[in-house]
Amino acid sequence: MKLCVIEGDGIGHEVVPAAVAVLQTVLPQVEIVRASAGYDYHQRTGRPIDPETFDLVRECGALLYGAANSPSFPVPGYSSPIVRLRRELKTYAALRPTVTMPVITSRPGVDLLVVREATEDVYSGEERQYFDSDSETMIAQKIVTRAASERIAHMAFSLARRNQRRRVTIVHKGNVLPMTDGLFRRAALEIAAYYPEIEVDELLVDTAAYWMVKDPSRFDIILTMNQYGDILSDMAAAWGGGLGLSPALNLGDEVGIAEPVHGSAPDIAGRNIANPTATILSLAMLIRYHWGLVEAAERIEGAIYRTLSDGLYTADIRPQGALSTTRFTEAVLERLI
Ligand code: NAI
Ligand code: MG
Repeated sequence: MKLCVIEGDGIGHEVVPAAVAVLQTVLPQVEIVRASAGYDYHQRTGRPIDPETFDLVRECGALLYGAANSPSFPVPGYSSPIVRLRRELKTYAALRPTVTMPVITSRPGVDLLVVREATEDVYSGEERQYFDSDSETMIAQKIVTRAASERIAHMAFSLARRNQRRRVTIVHKGNVLPMTDGLFRRAALEIAAYYPEIEVDELLVDTAAYWMVKDPSRFDIILTMNQYGDILSDMAAAWGGGLGLSPALNLGDEVGIAEPVHGSAPDIAGRNIANPTATILSLAMLIRYHWGLVEAAERIEGAIYRTLSDGLYTADIRPQGALSTTRFTEAVLERLI
């Protein structure tokens, strides 16, 4: 097994090595293949990412990615490498879990996973003026195909099957959009029939948002479209312990990309205070969902849980009594039983 590792910029240089240390303890046989990408790399070489890096990641089949700076002003020749990586490597699913953590912000009993279609819907980027002569009327296209809907539904239900999850909730707005969302819903319900042991239900997206605020413990796996998944997964993250604890996995048929939800955090970069938990948990997701090594993933998640339960944390959780990135990582490594 091989893992390609790209630290990127900012705290990527601190949180990614922490996750690699955890990996080398739990799965020492995994070969680490390093590559560079990001804003600093672009400043040095004129390229945000080398074209060969895509092949390298494809050959490894798995990538751990930190984060890259993306300035809010246009930089000639620069675009965020992760967006290109996801597209090139065809990771069509975005997975974001929220689990109750032993920190003050968590809500008890939450253990949900948002499985979001990541290639179509209104985010396919097809926006234009409706009339050539009128710049005050705009239209965005919502693209939904049966193939992509079935593919993401299969992923959600097979993840449920392999990870002993009991229910998949299909979230859509088929009452208002019977053609696009209706197609997604029909395809998902048809795929559900192949997984008779998994309970299936459906919610309109507004009702799902209501439940996400009122009682997120109602959810197990949420299967949804690109835009709804974007919003619902951020809502779900509010029940977790914040950005420092929020992992993500981008999954396709060939490649898995583990990356924390957070960015490069330039405000705290280089100070050894970043929380490595989100990146370590992203790696655990890759191990569980992409490599199928459930026990190894549980060892890592258990160590994180025990570290936080023992009252150890980094400064984003609470400034008083906080550990540095390296001390916190050592505490996690000590708890990898
Ligand atoms: P951010 O997620 O980097 O930071 C937001 C706030 O959360 C900051 O105060 C930061 O210090 C804190 N924070 C984030 N992760 C943390 C961690 N692990 N431990 C402790 N504190 C943490 O988002 P922001 O500030 O909007 O963006 C900073 C840069 O990152 C920008 O250039 C942005 O474009 C880029 N970015 C990159 C992403 C990626 O490469 N996937 C994703 C999001 C942002
Ligand atoms: Mg978002």
